[in-house]
This record gives sequence, C-alpha cells and structure tokens, in this order.
Amino acid sequence: MMSRSSTAFLAILVICLSAGFSNAITPGSCKANPSTLDRNATNCADERDSASCKAIFSAAPTATEPRDPKCTDPNLEDFALECANTCGLCCETAAYSCGDDPVSPINCTANTRYCRDASWTTVMQQYCPGTCGLCTSASAAC
Ligand SMILES: *[C@@H]1O[C@H](CO)[C@@H](O)[C@H](O)[C@H]1NC(C)=O
Ligand SMILES: *[C@@H]1O[C@H](CO)[C@@H](O)[C@H](O)[C@H]1NC(C)=O
Repeated sequence: MMSRSSTAFLAILVICLSAGFSNAITPGSCKANPSTLDRNATNCADERDSASCKAIFSAAPTATEPRDPKCTDPNLEDFALECANTCGLCCETAAYSCGDDPVSPINCTANTRYCRDASWTTVMQQYCPGTCGLCTSASAAC
C-alpha cells in the first residue's frame, strides 16, 4: 500500500505532466478561428527532420491551405507534435505549455517580434515564455 506522501507526490507529478502534455490535439488547435491559424501555430521548428515530417504529413498549413487531417489523428499525435511546424501545432508543444509572468511589465502579445531577437531573449524568456514558446528553455514551473 502506498504511503500518503507518495500518493500526494504522484498526484502532483500527474498534474504537472498533464498541464504540459495532455492537451488534446483537435482540428481547432492553434487556430484563431476555424479558418485562420493563430500566430503561435507555426512559430517553432520541427523536432523530427523536415523531410521525414513531410513524408508523413503534407505541407505546413497556411491561411488558405488547411492542416493535413492526419495531424489531428489521435493515433499519430506523437508524430504530429514532433512535426509541430509542419502540422501547425506549435502551440500544443511543451515549449508553449506554461503561462507568461502574471505581472509581466511587457505586453507579451504586442511584442512577439522580440521573442526570437537575441538581444531580448533573456527578458522575453523571463516574462513572456508562454507567448513566445520559450517554456522549455525557461526554468520549468513544475
Ligand atoms: C495561441 O494563441 C491563441 C489566440 O491568440 C490563444 O488563445 C492561445 O492561448 C495561444 N496558445 C498558447 C499555448 O499560447
Ligand atoms: C497588449 O497589446 C494588445 C495588442 O496590441 C492589445 O490588444 C492589448 O489590449 C494590450 N494589453 C494591455 C494590457 O495593454
């Protein structure tokens, strides 16, 4: 039988893991509305090499070309997340799984152009990791 404290530890672990990784991917993922991808949809690189992503999924979605339906097939979820750029699913990856600093002095959404600017990376990582997709390089919340 498990002790009370190890049960509590497991509960916290499960909460942390699910906060980061169990976002169900749906056809509406990373979209501002049904026909428009959000800017956080393709703002990341594929983890898997792009050639193998393109062998599994058709080209990255654009404003007019919809996402490959295979990208939201639950059986292919792990591949889709490794091909997040090709699938337009960046916002579902661990890099986007945290929030911004709630008292950020910076308006994160208005300043996304600085997310990948080398002279601003430290500041954006500190205050706007969720908006910038810098969660996995910032000190983790869990
Ligand atoms: C992606 O952008 C949409 C629309 O701005 C927003 O609702 C959503 O929370 C963002 N997702 C992440 C993980 O930043
Ligand atoms: C941040 O900027 C966005 C986009 O320019 C704007 O819509 C929003 O109201 C601003 N938020 C604050 C708190 O100023």
